[in-house]
Amino acid sequence: MCGIVGYAGPAPANAKPLEVCLQGLKRLEYRGYDSAGVALAAPGMDTVVFRKKAGRLDNLVKETQRSPMPDATVGIGHTRWATNGAPSDVNAHPHISQDGKIALIHNGIIENAAQLKFELQAEGYSFSSGTDTEVAAKLLGKIANQVIDETGTPDLFEALRRVSRMLSGAFTLLAVDVRQPDIVVGSRHDSPLVVGLGDGENFLGSDVAAFVAYTKNALELGQDEAVCISAGSVTVTDFDGNPVEAKPFTVDWDASASEKGGWDSFMDKEIHEDPEAVRNTLLGRVDLDGRLNLDELHIDENAFKSIDKIIVVACGTASYAGIVAKYAIEHWVRIPVEVELASEFRYRDPILTPRTLVVAISQSGETMDTLMALRHAREQGSKVLAICNTQGSSIPRESDAVLYTHAGPEIAVASTKAFLAQITAAYLLGLYLAQTKGTMYRDEIGNTLEALSQMPEKIQWVLDTQPQTIHDTARRMVDAHSFLFLGRHVGYPIALEGALKLKEIAYTFTEGFAAGELKHGPIALVDEGEPVVVIVPPARGRNILHAKVMSAIEEVQARGAFTIAVAEEGDEDVAQKADVVFWRPECPTLMSPLVDVVPLQLFAMDMAMLKHYDVDKPRNLAKSVTVE
Ligand code: F6R
Repeated sequence: MCGIVGYAGPAPANAKPLEVCLQGLKRLEYRGYDSAGVALAAPGMDTVVFRKKAGRLDNLVKETQRSPMPDATVGIGHTRWATNGAPSDVNAHPHISQDGKIALIHNGIIENAAQLKFELQAEGYSFSSGTDTEVAAKLLGKIANQVIDETGTPDLFEALRRVSRMLSGAFTLLAVDVRQPDIVVGSRHDSPLVVGLGDGENFLGSDVAAFVAYTKNALELGQDEAVCISAGSVTVTDFDGNPVEAKPFTVDWDASASEKGGWDSFMDKEIHEDPEAVRNTLLGRVDLDGRLNLDELHIDENAFKSIDKIIVVACGTASYAGIVAKYAIEHWVRIPVEVELASEFRYRDPILTPRTLVVAISQSGETMDTLMALRHAREQGSKVLAICNTQGSSIPRESDAVLYTHAGPEIAVASTKAFLAQITAAYLLGLYLAQTKGTMYRDEIGNTLEALSQMPEKIQWVLDTQPQTIHDTARRMVDAHSFLFLGRHVGYPIALEGALKLKEIAYTFTEGFAAGELKHGPIALVDEGEPVVVIVPPARGRNILHAKVMSAIEEVQARGAFTIAVAEEGDEDVAQKADVVFWRPECPTLMSPLVDVVPLQLFAMDMAMLKHYDVDKPRNLAKSVTVE
């Protein structure tokens, strides 16, 4: 939530803070898009120069064209997802200190803002916005004036550290000061911030997308750390000013990966990257002799052998990847796997022991609920393994081990390719546990890995052959008020995911159910013409669940439902009974989620586009939910 970018460059004529900030904000807009702003500082300025506008980033860009900004050395930019104060010009960031010398931007929620504001007001400070950020800006202005030297220059870095110690809640703060126009300072507590190392220029960002167009060399910042960048230096300390060695890393994707590259939307592009996301997540993790090699986890084999329970903690789509993984891992490893919504986990006193492995699944690596859940698990003595798509983010940094998904940057707010990569990574983890614990024969593991490696082609088949049917169905259904999604076994989490996709981007009321639950309540919703999407398991191998799901189709049809099935090619029963079928190629049941979700992603996108909604930036949502 909220995208943040900072830039420090050489002398104004050669520096490009406005360009970098606007570029960075463009790439970060998926983090929030209800207002945006930028502030610049340069030698000789009396007060910071800033522009800010409610609405999409384009409004800010137009504002900077209508009212051009001067050359500068340093700059900060912000794109907002409102938590505190409605989206408006005045509530947009940056916020400015009382004397106009300092501009500050913020991501998070400052919980003691009301008390601090009250104290500042008593001292004569005035406020124009309804935000907690303005409180931090006014406070920083006050503190900076207390750490001023005889030349009238404040120590902005020290002032920001002092302010950071006074705040409670979650925050990333960035600030510039016209009296120190060669630096940008930042600090973080429970909110993301990474550093980009350039050549004669340096960058700050909520994530690497902010600066990947300029550099791939980056530094992770830890919890309760502060940073000061200038064109030629980066200094990291804790909030008390003690030096800290930040961990370097190299961004493993190109700037072009976070561009639309000819596609109508990021969502369309990312759905078409589903096969690649699976392929890249498998890449390099299977030895030439067919053994799974996850040395990257750096977890002692004996520790793995002793694991007697897995708890997956995750939110939304990532939690559905967890449910898919539960079916596979329990089958392969014969240990219980619980899947828990991260937001519920730490508030219910879960049973955790040193033999419990907690698996935190997160695309962004910054979801606050998931971060809090993993912290709780570690406090209780359990080991945490992160399945994550974002280098340098908090969740892998705070976990005992990390298995990265290599889906590449996911920009559209609705998660698509990352979901497939999460299932793939969780399957690798399951097979690795089976290999370590000896719960599967070597051949079985090899065959399963072989089946997994064939999935990219099968996903591609869906992308190549099914879009017309999907599009025609979306046109037919575009005015439907609600949808039911049904599935059993691994089809159940796919039903949940299909329902979530349609809900979040097409704003259609949807519910996903386990098909077996139909008669226990949901069937009461079925009326003439009600669309019901059913994930049908393969009929092969006398799969008893196939017959049960077919009965569900008949039951809803008998009550007038319009049925859309997702089923295996050649399934005659489905061809005869369902009103429409989205076909998948033949694959083992446990692999089917990787193909079954794809038509549902396309269907949701088509529905949203037919309604003329912005599929990449659905209303009220942000990509990275960094507040609880
Ligand atoms: C839905 C969606 C969300 C996320 C959830 C967790 O399309 O994107 O439900 O899956 O907010 O986000 P991460 O995976 O970043 O922790």
